[in-house]
Amino acid sequence: MTQNTTKKNVSQFDADVAATGSYAYTTEKLSAKLANKRISDAIASAYDFRGKSVLDLGCGDGTYTLDFPALGIKDILGVDPAEVAIASAQKKAADAGLSDKVSFVVGNIYDLRAAVGDRRFDIIVLRGVLHHLPDAKQAIAAVAPFADAVLVLEPNGYNPVLKLLEKVSTYHVEHEEQSFLPGTIKSWFKDAGMKVEHTSYVNLVAMFCPDWFAKTCKAFEPVVERIPVVREIACGQLLLVAKH
Ligand SMILES: C[S@@+](CC[C@H](N)C(=O)[O-])C[C@H]1O[C@@H](n2cnc3c(N)ncnc32)[C@H](O)[C@@H]1O
Repeated sequence: MTQNTTKKNVSQFDADVAATGSYAYTTEKLSAKLANKRISDAIASAYDFRGKSVLDLGCGDGTYTLDFPALGIKDILGVDPAEVAIASAQKKAADAGLSDKVSFVVGNIYDLRAAVGDRRFDIIVLRGVLHHLPDAKQAIAAVAPFADAVLVLEPNGYNPVLKLLEKVSTYHVEHEEQSFLPGTIKSWFKDAGMKVEHTSYVNLVAMFCPDWFAKTCKAFEPVVERIPVVREIACGQLLLVAKH
């Protein structure tokens, strides 16, 4: 790969942590809390994490890396090129008394060997990472040899509201938000020699919206997530698990 291995979002994420202590969407705002809780629950039920070694790649400020010990994992390593975010993640793990199971290191998806050496994992989690990379297809090919399974959580590329936000919202533009069509991500796994064994569409609550709207969306979420076609257009996130 000849192009850069990071885009400007990495320094933008670091700037968010330096300014506020965390990523904008990991705060106490009701909409962000509801959306991220739904995403964490969906990840937890898409794969049996018990006893597994996990690589949380593009872990950011580590907020959701710290969810995993409660799922009975063996251990988890968080990797991200954003150095300020990784320092914050290390402090969070120490403060929570989880440093025996959770560790963090600065590293890049395109040079995983430098970050993890010869380690191989049961599963790599890519939560909201692919769309922040200069070449997402290349990233899937790069991580495939390092684990038996790869879980991807991405903005749902079928959702027309997301497509609009990516163009007009300041946050989305500054953080280089984009969404891929599900079939595109599946084709990257196929080309990397992996098979997608789980697909789901989850979460109806927008990350940043007024409390009343978040509560209304949350009330409709269980119904919407159950209706084929409707969920594929309305849900905010796509979740895939691919295996060798
Ligand atoms: C939306 S954040 C997701 C963070 C975390 N997974 C979460 O769910 O909160 C995207 C992350 O991708 C990271 N990232 C960007 N380029 C990367 C690269 N080349 N290798 C690994 N991570 C990268 C960013 O630094 C950022 O922390």
